[in-house]
Amino acid sequence: MKATIVLLPGDGIGPEVTASALAVLRIIAETFAHDFMFVEHLIGGAAIDATGLPLPETTRAACLSADAVLLGAVGGPRWSDPNARPEQGLLQLRAALGVFANLRPVHVHPRTAALSPVKADRLVGVDLLFVRELTGGSYFGRRSRDADSASDECRYTVVEIERVLRRAFELARARRGRVTSIDKANVLETSRLWRETAIRVAADYPDVTLEHQLVDSMAMLMLSQPARYDVLVTENLFGDILTDEAAVLAGSLGLLPSASLGEGRRGLYEPIHGSAPDIAGKGSANPIGSILSAALLLRHSLGLANEAAAIERAVHTVLDTRELTRDLGGNANTHDITDAIVATLTRHAAARAA
Ligand code: NAD
Ligand code: IPM
Ligand code: MN
Repeated sequence: MKATIVLLPGDGIGPEVTASALAVLRIIAETFAHDFMFVEHLIGGAAIDATGLPLPETTRAACLSADAVLLGAVGGPRWSDPNARPEQGLLQLRAALGVFANLRPVHVHPRTAALSPVKADRLVGVDLLFVRELTGGSYFGRRSRDADSASDECRYTVVEIERVLRRAFELARARRGRVTSIDKANVLETSRLWRETAIRVAADYPDVTLEHQLVDSMAMLMLSQPARYDVLVTENLFGDILTDEAAVLAGSLGLLPSASLGEGRRGLYEPIHGSAPDIAGKGSANPIGSILSAALLLRHSLGLANEAAAIERAVHTVLDTRELTRDLGGNANTHDITDAIVATLTRHAAARAA
């Protein structure tokens, strides 16, 4: 198939891990005979340096006409002007693309489980899918600031809550049929609206079990009983925080991918980690979160489920057998892991052809 994929490498380790994902997508195109066109654009700090804006109009326009967008990471200590922050570019892009549902799957590979501070027996069978609301809440509310006070409005409409909940219920149907809706309904009005909406929407999905959990206790339960959960759906800020915590189950933040989806097929794909200024430029970043994001891109935006599964299988093989990156206690660098995944994909393709 033919597809246009916009690459937004961004800042810090963003370009390093995006190069890895690109190498993987090129091998997929070659071995499965697809015609992918890759177009690179600026976002974040790199875009501020070049144009003064974190999301230049050319980047926005390219993303809006692409089949999918693969982003590395934005941000870093060099860009601290509150009027031109790299992160604003990402938020503007999410809003422009209308990608209200951010899927963050969390799997625990048996080998990396040993690296988690959570006891290995608690990690058996962990298979979570976070559905984080991505275009509302305090990220997009009105802000105010004066000399001695500041505010960030958290606002949600029923429409915004309902569409992301429906996405969670639909995804749960194709999994183990359980949705945990996470809120702070004992304190926040937005959370009370969220919970009421969840109860109402659940009536349309009698085959799915809905449970509510307050976000503070969820933060604890996710580490003490992670295997109990299936699909977890929550508002923007809670989802941001809980998914970095969930990375502890997997063994490293560098492993987790994400897919941001709206109503159509077009999506924005990015690892959940940031630009990691502490390791940027060292060639030691773990590229797996970005590579698995490329797999999600193939599955959700291009409908290429077999190709996505091929990448996931290759990552699994490499996690099983190879020296790992530093975040996973090994000594391999970004290139070593990328080469190993590309070589595994090539080997698997040759085996298929034989
Ligand atoms: P971070 O995710 O960049 O890093 C947190 C820690 O995890 C660091 O020690 C880092 O070295 C490590 N880490 C992250 N990804 C890794 C990888 N692939 N391999 C190995 N180690 C990895 O979070 P931070 O330091 O709080 O944020 C740095 C900057 O990134 C900030 O400007 C923040 O706004 C931005 N950020 C951007 C995104 C994004 O673009 N989607 C996401 C999160 C943070
Ligand atoms: C993420 C990041 C972003 C977020 C920042 C960089 C705006 O932390 O993608 O998880 O908070 O959504
Ligand atoms: Mn985050």
